[in-house]
Amino acid sequence: MFKTIKIKFLVLSLAIIILSIGIPVGFLLNQVSKNFHERSVLMVDAALDLMIDGLNNSMMKGDQKNIHKIVKHISDNRFIEHIRIFNKLGIISYSNIPTELGKNINVIAPGLIESNISSIVKRNVYLDKKTKIYKAIQPIVIEKRCQSCHKENKIISYLDIDTNFTEAEINFYTGSVHMVIWGIVLIFILAVVFYLFFNRFINKPLNDFMDALGSVEKGNLDITLPSTGSDEFSILNNHFNRMVNELKDSREKIDEMHFEQLQRADKMVTLGELTSTMAHDINNYSAIIMSRADYLLLEAKNDNVLNVYKEDLNVINDQIEKISKITGNILTHSKKTSKDFCKFDLVKVIENSLKMLEPLAKKRKVNLSTGISVNEAIIYGNENQLEQVVINLISNALDALPDGGDINILLFKNDDGKLQLSVKDNGIGIDEDSMGKIFSPFYTKKGHGKGTGLGLYIVQNICNSHSAEIKCDSELNVGTTFTITFSEGAKND
Ligand SMILES: Nc1ncnc2c1ncn2[C@@H]1O[C@H](COP(=O)(O)OP(=O)(O)O)[C@@H](O)[C@H]1O
Ligand SMILES: [Mg+2]
Repeated sequence: MFKTIKIKFLVLSLAIIILSIGIPVGFLLNQVSKNFHERSVLMVDAALDLMIDGLNNSMMKGDQKNIHKIVKHISDNRFIEHIRIFNKLGIISYSNIPTELGKNINVIAPGLIESNISSIVKRNVYLDKKTKIYKAIQPIVIEKRCQSCHKENKIISYLDIDTNFTEAEINFYTGSVHMVIWGIVLIFILAVVFYLFFNRFINKPLNDFMDALGSVEKGNLDITLPSTGSDEFSILNNHFNRMVNELKDSREKIDEMHFEQLQRADKMVTLGELTSTMAHDINNYSAIIMSRADYLLLEAKNDNVLNVYKEDLNVINDQIEKISKITGNILTHSKKTSKDFCKFDLVKVIENSLKMLEPLAKKRKVNLSTGISVNEAIIYGNENQLEQVVINLISNALDALPDGGDINILLFKNDDGKLQLSVKDNGIGIDEDSMGKIFSPFYTKKGHGKGTGLGLYIVQNICNSHSAEIKCDSELNVGTTFTITFSEGAKND
């Protein structure tokens, strides 16, 4: 029940309010009410004494009529409700209300006498809380000097005086009720004020903080808590914001590093694939050609017949040079890791990529063609990364043409004036099921050791960082086209 701080705080503050208001007020009311009670009892006592004295005097004088006068006189006081004198049988012989005369006290005032009349042996003054009337009953005992007339018993009759509250008492008791009501209202108001204060300044910031922690736990780092004040929560929120920012920075760095690693891994694999198919052949053939050409050039110096073919031998050497350029390109490609953005010509990137892949395409009996309808396509981006995109797309297209075919690379401006690059092949195509997965990391349909499943994932990431959109259209056994649309901002920026 007392699980939350909110409930604990409310119960505690309510207890403090009740104790700090209730106890002093209760003590004060009790003390004042005691004083009033004592004073009222004294007043009733005085009225009783006065009445008894009057009775004795009248009786001594044998003037019974005077008793009526005394009863009337004393009862004229507005605080006196009743004065009655009744005998042992309860028959009222004197009363300030004439109609009560001769009637039984038990009928006139039921409950006034608890058991029977003979049990009243001494003065008894008490407050009837229901009627708010002080009741006093006293036996009238005959004095020695009266015994000439009253011989029977010591107690000859009973005196009953009822008095109302005084004005001061009435005011006090009404005031007390008001005070208690106001006390309750005050406690309620204070409790509400405490609740609102707690809710606004403690509970809400605490809940916001906990919600923010929950969000961070779920991985949402785009969260900021208000920290403009100077209270403890603002300081806490400030620390929290800094912590989340650091966490965000670290995560971005990790993501970046992770992506770079994947990118590099993919490059290595692409390179591995390229070099494993080409390097062996190229190296063998070049070495053979070079040694033969060198030998023949050497021989040509002394041999007139061979000297005629010196020109051809130089052509052969030129070709070998071209071959070593290709190898050089491959090596450069593997070393490039720069992340800088700058302006460059996409046409050149396409040409470079083609240079690298042409030998492989020839070997696979694939016809590589281009359709570049712009003179130059200057875009702002990372040249190496876009080269990797083109190489990845052409490599995939080559893999999709195991028995040869056509690959067509287009670069043009679409109807919206946006630069578009597409790589189209008439290969095996992509089925519907695979279509949704090709951009996921590590998704590959190529056999073990052949594909990494990272190529298109990296291509898509590079496109995103260049604000370019990549799209794939494919039909099984007909072919596939990957289209990259560069945003307005990416080009000529
Ligand atoms: N031009 C294409 N034609 C047919 N399938 C393709 C083509 N490009 C990509 N794919 C499919 O997408 C998968 C993922 O490609 P990619 O991410 O480059 O990884 P990998 O080439 O290492 O398999 C490939 O395994 C292949 O099944
Ligand atoms: Mg690939």
